[in-house]
Parts: sequence; C-alpha cells; structure tokens
Amino acid sequence: MTRITLPRPDDWHLHLRDGAMLTGVLPETTRHFARAIVMPNLVPPVVTGAEAAAYRDRILTALPAGAAFEPLMTLYLTETTDPADVAAAAASGLVKAVKLYPAGATTNSHSGVRDFDKVRGVLEKMAEIGLPLCVHGEVVDPAIDIFDREAVFIETVLDPIRRATPGLRVVMEHITTKDGVDYARSQDDTLAATITTHHLILNRNHILVGGIKPHYYCLPVAKREHHRLALRAAATSGETRFFLGTDSAPHVDPLKECACGCAGCFTATNTMQLLAHVFEEEGRLANLSAFASENGPRFYRLPVNTATLTLEKTTTAAHWPAKIETGAGPVTVFDPGFPVFWHAID
Ligand code: DOR
Ligand code: ZN
Repeated sequence: MTRITLPRPDDWHLHLRDGAMLTGVLPETTRHFARAIVMPNLVPPVVTGAEAAAYRDRILTALPAGAAFEPLMTLYLTETTDPADVAAAAASGLVKAVKLYPAGATTNSHSGVRDFDKVRGVLEKMAEIGLPLCVHGEVVDPAIDIFDREAVFIETVLDPIRRATPGLRVVMEHITTKDGVDYARSQDDTLAATITTHHLILNRNHILVGGIKPHYYCLPVAKREHHRLALRAAATSGETRFFLGTDSAPHVDPLKECACGCAGCFTATNTMQLLAHVFEEEGRLANLSAFASENGPRFYRLPVNTATLTLEKTTTAAHWPAKIETGAGPVTVFDPGFPVFWHAID
C-alpha cells in the first residue's frame, strides 16, 4: 500500500503554550489535525472554566487563516479546584477533560496535586458526569528511580484512585512502559491510554549513547527497548483503548540546549508521516486510522471527523524544516534519525 486516506486525525494530548509561541506552533498542528486536547500547564495554569474560555479565545484568534481546527480545552487540577466550576465548564461543552499533574512531576506542575485526598470531591463529581481525567502518571518521590516512576505510580497512586472512585473515566497519558500497556489492557473501558509518536521511536539509548541528545529528552523519559516494543505492539494493535496523544511540547532551543534542559519533544510537524512509517514497519498500516482518527473520539464520545488526511509513500524522502522559527525563538522539530518516505498530502 503506498497511499492511505484516514478520517482527519486528532491529537489527544498537545502543548500549544501562549503568546508568540502559540502563534508559531499552531499551524504545525492545524495542518494535519482537526482537534486537539490542549494541555493547561501554562504559567499561571488554566485552572477555572473562565480561564479555559479565555485561553480558548486566544487559540482561536491565533489560528492560521482558513484553518478548521477545534481546540478541546482542559482544566489543571489543583487541591483547591471547585467541583461545581468543573461541572459547569463541562456542561457548557467548553471543557473536555481535567488534567492531573502530581506536583513536581514535570514542566509547570508545581501547582499540581500533593495530597490526593484533597481532590476527592472533584474526582467524584467527574465520575458522576463522565468527564475524563487525564493523568501524568509518574510519582515524584526522589527515592524512586526516574525509570521506575511510571510503574510505581500505577501501583501506588492510579490503581488506588480508580478503586476509590468507581466509574471515573481515566486517560493514562503518554504511557512509556510495558507496565502501562499491561495495566491498560487489564482494566474495563473506563480506562484508556495515549501513546506519543516519539515513544514509538526512541528508547533510552537514543538519548544517551554517543552524546546526550537534549531534543530527545521528555517526560516521562523514554525507557528500555522492550518497553518501546510493547508500546509499538499496543499502538498498532487497533485496540480501542490506545490512541494518539503526541505530547508535542515546544521549548525554544536555548532552553533545551543548556546545562538544565527542559523536557519535551516537538513532533507536531511530522507526527503523521512518522506514524505511517512506524505502522508500515509493524505491518499494521490498516490500524493507523484506529489509533490516530477513531479510538480517541470514541473514548471522548465525540464524532469521528468527516474531513480526511491522505498519506502517500514515494521514493523521495520526506522533508521538513530542522526547526521552526517562532516569535518566541527557534523550536527544533523532532528528528527520528532515519529517512521517512511517507508524505502528508496537505
Ligand atoms: O516532556 C514533557 N514536556 N512532558 C510533560 O509532561 C510536559 C511537557 C511540557 O509541558 O513541556
Ligand atoms: Zn504533556
């Protein structure tokens, strides 16, 4: 197969930032994607319904001319989040999910949750109204090795929260381990998991062998090869619980290429071409539509897009800029380290 047409894909986990960065990166997503779950980890974070409405307006104002793109807004869960505000923002259709960051787990997560008992009321309200909780699944205990933080989170935080809140609909975001795949598979359909493009391509050697690669550093950090293979099998399986969330996370190059570099891979530009390559390698091109276009809307109870995206394989390697220039500074585009012959027909 050298040509494949999908319902237009959606990105179920995306960082758009704000201001000049937002304006700079938004066209990279709207070129191929119809909708995206937009992360709320701005500074300050998007906590209330009113803040989400204002952020949505700023995104719509920054849209490139002619783009048909719908931002799906999220709220940043804090220990003082008001369950009634969450319910109202969901009822109005503005907010599609609430995001749980364990405090200190990643970029701009310091306003996140330390004491999970303090968010019990919000989680119960969300279970009642069916609003999904998107979870950054890593413990922050300094005693836990960074490569074990996802597996320990599942056992010590996620599973207890789900048991204590029956019916709560949860997305395990950007899973990076076989433990995450196995847990998602072992549970009922209140649980789903997103997988990023870069975690299908990178293992931890890619970050560290032959010199440190700051543009491959993200959180959760890429793990051992057997975990990457488990993620590939899950993503390409067609199983409804797994879908695409790129976690495309722009940082300007000076903040990546320095003594204490920020976490995040910027994959908005070339995700669909890379996914076609990965799915073809796995002999599962026919399941790309399930992963990128169908399983996400199904979990979020939204229609599959009627517009389409066509991907075509040629004998010429696909070309994308090494970096995009934004008003905030240059942002390096994810380099998979191998040529890709799949092109998106924009
Ligand atoms: O790599 C990451 N970058 N992981 C996250 O969880 C946050 C994100 C960001 O906002 O830069
Ligand atoms: Zn993220």
